[in-house]
Amino acid sequence: MWKAAIEDAVAKTRVNMERFGDRFPHVSKDDQYLLNDNTDWTDGFWSGILWLCYEYTGEREFRDAAARTVESFRRRLERHISLDHHDIGFLYSLSSKAQWMIEKDEAAKTLTLQAADTLMRRWRPKTQILQAWGPEGDEQNGGRIIIDCLMNLPLLYWAYEQTGEKKYYDVALKHAEQSRRFLVRGDDSSYHTFYFDQETGEALKGGTHQGYANGSTWTRGQAWGIYGFALSSKYTNEPLFLETAIRLAKYFLERLPEDDVVYWDFDAPVTPETKRDSSASAIAACGILQILSQLPASHSDRSWLEAGANRSMKGLVQSYSTMSKPDAQGFIERGSYSVRGGNAPDDYMIWGDYYYLEALMRLEKGHKGYWYE
Ligand code: GLY
Repeated sequence: MWKAAIEDAVAKTRVNMERFGDRFPHVSKDDQYLLNDNTDWTDGFWSGILWLCYEYTGEREFRDAAARTVESFRRRLERHISLDHHDIGFLYSLSSKAQWMIEKDEAAKTLTLQAADTLMRRWRPKTQILQAWGPEGDEQNGGRIIIDCLMNLPLLYWAYEQTGEKKYYDVALKHAEQSRRFLVRGDDSSYHTFYFDQETGEALKGGTHQGYANGSTWTRGQAWGIYGFALSSKYTNEPLFLETAIRLAKYFLERLPEDDVVYWDFDAPVTPETKRDSSASAIAACGILQILSQLPASHSDRSWLEAGANRSMKGLVQSYSTMSKPDAQGFIERGSYSVRGGNAPDDYMIWGDYYYLEALMRLEKGHKGYWYE
């Protein structure tokens, strides 16, 4: 089943390369991907899809298209286009870092290190966080973290490994610790976002941006936490991070609905109209597979984690994939960007497609993604 799903995604990407040209897909409207000129937080996912397709097929066409996106990311960094946010890790891990991992291209490595430096400018010593959004000192966002940022930390851990400069590691570790302490709640659910006093560093309150309510658990946030803490554990060997990733995964898997693909928020009332977020299930599956890659063969949590990753991926392939729709642009249907904001609440999400393909490549080929070397 995994192989057929990969081949379908590869075939769709072949057509999408023609459709999209040098532009980047984001989310869809009326089943058509909305394109931008490499100005959004999501543009690395298209690069990641192209690199995965290249690694699966060995076809030069995919490689050249992926390398062209890296050149676009180079121009973006040089001109500092839409980079005043924390999502630099999403952008450069899957584009230039992937190229470095696959081809050992020195220019791609240099670009990725420059991207890490750009992310470091989000560090705020008083709060010991990487500020997610907005300029330093911003009244609304100045002292704010979001759980998604855990996926940006691998860029910094990697920069430490490449350069030996401890500052990258220290910032990533501190941010991960703050996230563990303040975003994860006692029952293993999570806040999407948390606020600190920018001057004193005092922890103020949890909240949400895309979730159902301030104290609810946005399913994609929980999925970012599963994968993000697993990756922090991979880089730091800190057992608490792995334990946290497992606990978040348990919370996630215990709340799967009948078809094994999550709704957009675990606390949203379920009616026939409630939206799903297939992208959350794809991210969580990757995160669980990452956890499994770090657990000893005899570990007592392995069996339920394996079953959970399989259920999630089977659910996606069987009930949400577009395998029976050869002309579809996306790989999986029914992602939601922001149900709360009325933004693409039931559409294709390019990150949903990316993580779906990464999970399939993990299952079929033992691929490990592009987050660490
Ligand atoms: N990182 C933004 C989102 O998940 O919507």
